Amino acid sequence: MTATLVETLHMVPGDGDTSYARNSTIQGGQQSNLKPMIEEAVVSLLNDNDGATGLAIADLGCSSGPNTLVLVSTAVAAVRRRCSELRRQPPELCVHLNDLPNNDFNLVTKSLATYAKAQESLGPPVLTSIVPGSFHARLFSKRSLHLVCSNASLQWLS
Ligand SMILES: C[S@@+](CC[C@H](N)C(=O)[O-])C[C@H]1O[C@@H](n2cnc3c(N)ncnc32)[C@H](O)[C@@H]1O
Repeated sequence: MTATLVETLHMVPGDGDTSYARNSTIQGGQQSNLKPMIEEAVVSLLNDNDGATGLAIADLGCSSGPNTLVLVSTAVAAVRRRCSELRRQPPELCVHLNDLPNNDFNLVTKSLATYAKAQESLGPPVLTSIVPGSFHARLFSKRSLHLVCSNASLQWLS
């Protein structure tokens, strides 16, 4: 992707009639199909990371609107559920939301803060971060992520 496209590409912001938030039902359906895969990945992740005190989860190309938190919140709920089945203390969870810099991160920030607050009563905190930039470039430090999700985004080729 050229620098110009990285700097300018974005879905329609806000929650008006033409916004991505109001016109992403199909992608929302695709996300539902991913849920069993994420839950399965979480089970093997917890098997492989027995005793881990923290897990980091990322969504690449999260956009803004009702779909933004679906994949990461599915993963967080699956971690909590699996730890409960195993009678293990859930690890501290870190959730990273990535998109291009012109994504409507104002909208994302509000829903992310509300989500993190709601999680407070459920166990160890869910720490959150927004990671602006192209996923075709380096976004995270080496070996810092445990689970990476993405829907309807990776087809945006360089
Ligand atoms: C069709 S939306 C999908 C959004 C969301 N994952 C969903 O399922 O509704 C594609 C998203 O990918 C983002 N995107 C495209 N290329 C990207 C890149 N190179 N790095 C990060 N995000 C990118 C776009 O800005 C857009 O928000």
